[in-house]
Amino acid sequence: TGSSSVNENSKNEQLEQFRNDNTDQYMTTDQGVRINHTDDSLKSGSRGPTLIEDFHFREKMTHLDHESIPERVVHARGSAAHGYFQPYNDSLKQYTKARFLTDPEERTPVFVRFSTVVGSRGSADTVRDVRGFATKFYTSEGNYDLVGNNIPVFFIQDAIKFPDLVHAIKPHPDSEMPQATAAHDNFWDFASLMPETTHMLLWVLSDRAIPRSFRMMDGFGVHTFRFVNEAGQGTFVKLHWRPLLGAHSLVWDEAQKLGGKDTDWLRRDLWEAIEKGDYPEFELSVQLVPEEDEFKYDFDLLDATKLIPEEIVPRVPVGKMVLNRNPDNFFAETEQVAFHPGNLVPGIDVTNDPLLQGRLFSYLDTQLNRFNSSNFTEVPINRPVAPVHNHHGAGFMKMTIGKGKANYWPNSTGDGNPKMAPEDEGGYVHYTEKVEGHKIRARSASFRDHYSQATLFWNSMTEVEKKHIVEAAHFELGKVEREDIRRRMVGNFAKVSKELAERVAAGIGVDVPTDSDIESTGNFEDNAASEKMRKGNS
Ligand code: HEM
Repeated sequence: TGSSSVNENSKNEQLEQFRNDNTDQYMTTDQGVRINHTDDSLKSGSRGPTLIEDFHFREKMTHLDHESIPERVVHARGSAAHGYFQPYNDSLKQYTKARFLTDPEERTPVFVRFSTVVGSRGSADTVRDVRGFATKFYTSEGNYDLVGNNIPVFFIQDAIKFPDLVHAIKPHPDSEMPQATAAHDNFWDFASLMPETTHMLLWVLSDRAIPRSFRMMDGFGVHTFRFVNEAGQGTFVKLHWRPLLGAHSLVWDEAQKLGGKDTDWLRRDLWEAIEKGDYPEFELSVQLVPEEDEFKYDFDLLDATKLIPEEIVPRVPVGKMVLNRNPDNFFAETEQVAFHPGNLVPGIDVTNDPLLQGRLFSYLDTQLNRFNSSNFTEVPINRPVAPVHNHHGAGFMKMTIGKGKANYWPNSTGDGNPKMAPEDEGGYVHYTEKVEGHKIRARSASFRDHYSQATLFWNSMTEVEKKHIVEAAHFELGKVEREDIRRRMVGNFAKVSKELAERVAAGIGVDVPTDSDIESTGNFEDNAASEKMRKGNS
């Protein structure tokens, strides 16, 4: 394409113009006026009232008063690092035209933010929780965000359930307890009523949910995405990060003790490793599925509660990421970075996964709340290295200064006019998937099986791993006050494995129900109706 290349330092060089080192400089006001005394406010007499004309006092206090912005509604607690990504070779070229994945000469700068999901910004690092693993690639063709987790599947299949999930997992609305743990009635009530959560729940009860280090943690794009090559041909793809140090976990006892002794355990580990030059490295790999195989499996590729077993589609390693620099400023970088699964570059597109489709709305929406302006993309950490030219104009905190008369399209002034990029000059063209259907609020029958992959997961565990899952279930469900919730959950586990259900039940004072109280969420009743309708209409 016509875009110029980036290198490992491109983002760092761009950030340099925004850095401000105070060392040995005179302290000034925001207007650049030098300050000669910052320890006392201006008063009328040394014991008198403070004067409103004290511009230095007012400015200093105003800044503190306005320092907080809304924390992320989920993934509030995070730690981040800079680095680069480089593909091993050009082998993906037949599947994608994304340059950062196919040009082995190009080192693309990245910024990665690891996070917990549930806890607030000041919560502990070592709680049992999913971990976020979000990567912003500052590619020569624009920013690409891989906004993933350390678990390859998700709790729910349709984004419309996300607000319910988040309300259920967050602390109770009356007491705001408990913080940052799933050990409470609301979460397990919801989970037990939503059997589609079962597969992910087993991962969350496993040692995967208490990683030893962000440096020793997998990352998964979760959804099936789509690669698109030069010829416009699509290939389904799952994207995975593997840590070169291997994936390691704490044990629960360690996690709990660390939660008390060092709430910054994971953050400190990442920071100190990078300071020492012990750079975390992650290998990117892909699972590729040709379009013609879309319906080949006994699960739906669009269902985010399912993974593609590696026995069916092997992982192919494609490149490596190195994290080699800590942020200069937590707020400016780690807090203000804004990831979005809809930040795509040519060669990568989305699929109709109904969870992913909903995410495409949610991230920008929430960031408009978090930053109170659509201009957050101009904040240094979010700014692409690729040039930005458009007619987006005013708004809070606009940083760049648009030149020229025309800020509309089309125009004939020739002044301030960007042009359209043809596809071979890097213009993004959405994949031309054929889509048609009746407008129905329903879920595909192909999303119906909630247990087979949960069983696969349970059966793949060693006895030690199984023991940890059972003990985690005893801890979490043991804190659930209502017996009917504990029993219903065990009923769902019984559909995964009789052994699992019996072992969990034995520790939480319930028996294994023979007839499960809840067959499914009712979505499938809608489905039966919609299937009938489809048949009627076709
Ligand atoms: C953060 C929504 C599912 C990974 C967020 C945020 C929202 C959100 C609102 C806060 C973003 C911000 O304030 O900048 C949703 C919705 C989902 C969903 C609506 C499903 C319908 C997922 C899934 C994954 C994921 C399946 C993993 C594949 C993340 C990560 C972050 C995040 C890693 C933190 C990004 C950061 O470090 O700033 N999500 N999410 N989310 N989400 Fe999701």
